[in-house]
Amino acid sequence: MGDAHRIGVVGLGVISRAYLDTLVGHLRVRVTAVADLDASRSAAVAAEVPGVQALTVEELLSSPDVDTVLNLTVPAAHAEIALGAIGHGKHVYGEKPLAAGLADAHAVIEAAAKAGVGVGCAPDTVLGTGVQTARAAVAAGSIGRPQFATAVMVTPGHERWHPHPDFYYTAGGGPLLDMGPYYLASLVHLLGPVRAVTGASSRLRAERVIGSGPRAGERIPVEVDSHVSGVLEHADGTLTTITTSFDGVATNAAPIEVHGAAGTLAVPDPNHFDGEVRLFELGATQWRTLPPSAGYVDGARGIGLLDFITADGRRAPRANGELALHVLETMSALLRSSAEGRRIELATTAEVPALVPLTPADDWKGQEAG
Ligand SMILES: NC(=O)c1ccc[n+]([C@@H]2O[C@H](COP(=O)([O-])OP(=O)(O)OC[C@H]3O[C@@H](n4cnc5c(N)ncnc54)[C@H](O)[C@@H]3O)[C@@H](O)[C@H]2O)c1
Repeated sequence: MGDAHRIGVVGLGVISRAYLDTLVGHLRVRVTAVADLDASRSAAVAAEVPGVQALTVEELLSSPDVDTVLNLTVPAAHAEIALGAIGHGKHVYGEKPLAAGLADAHAVIEAAAKAGVGVGCAPDTVLGTGVQTARAAVAAGSIGRPQFATAVMVTPGHERWHPHPDFYYTAGGGPLLDMGPYYLASLVHLLGPVRAVTGASSRLRAERVIGSGPRAGERIPVEVDSHVSGVLEHADGTLTTITTSFDGVATNAAPIEVHGAAGTLAVPDPNHFDGEVRLFELGATQWRTLPPSAGYVDGARGIGLLDFITADGRRAPRANGELALHVLETMSALLRSSAEGRRIELATTAEVPALVPLTPADDWKGQEAG
């Protein structure tokens, strides 16, 4: 346990529970400290998890007991916390998006490079068996050369279930910045980076009503577009049509479909680690389900952080900052394209991360007995 990688968690809201479930008790890491603007949240976690200190944010960022800061704050605070951690020579791994705005995201990547520390970023769901099996099937030629893809995310909006949904409707939120990272990271794994985009967006309502928790019934303003669609031109010429919306109710569309002359592949929800990958081959009469052939089996939130801290000279972290920056630039460009009514070429690109070999849960969970 002595050389376990030490994690300090900043931001102890809804998603922090999933991360703590994965990381607490894992043999490779030790959660040493937690912090939140709301000190009662850090006190509650420290009371529950042995060996965890409740600190202020500044104390945690400068703590000698923290190697990597896990940043689970709201998008508007992502860059500030990341830059604070980097300023103290710490690695950072954060929730998506990398930052609420592109300039801040660039600042994070540049500061980390200067300081010689690593940046990792969610989503890590795409490292599970769903997207990775689909990717392996595309790479194996199951549909021929990919020609085009569709990506569709439709929900009535997270204010129906999230007790503090304000951030989904302010800068850094909206359906694309919130849910787009799952789809765009998957598309980079499946089809490679994006070279240009064309977008169009709209807004159904100027206000939303919180549906649960202590603020149920409260009206919150909508400051961003709540329906965003667009076309992505991948570097190899493949075209993706994407729709992300908080303005519909449901959809029957596969979350992602990839089409080639020899077949069509239906990719499961990239916000989940697993799910059925289905193939319809030219000449077949029905879909067939492919068995898992790649990815972390029974993945859970935090697997990207484990992948990040176990990466070495032979393999870059898969959920890395460069990919997250490219995903954020793609999303920002879609919104800018919509606002300006023109096609936009991207300045960033990203390496396609190494395929995750089929990795049984026992091999990555590394839980201590008892
Ligand atoms: N809720 C989900 O299902 C979900 C799923 C996947 C990813 N995410 C992502 O996780 C992040 C957090 O989402 P959430 O749902 O847990 O939000 P949340 O509002 O429930 O929790 C955020 C926490 O961060 C704290 N915080 C905010 N600013 C801070 C600052 N400057 N310093 C310290 N603490 C600060 C808040 O007090 C709060 O406890 C977001 O980026 C979101 O996109 C959420």
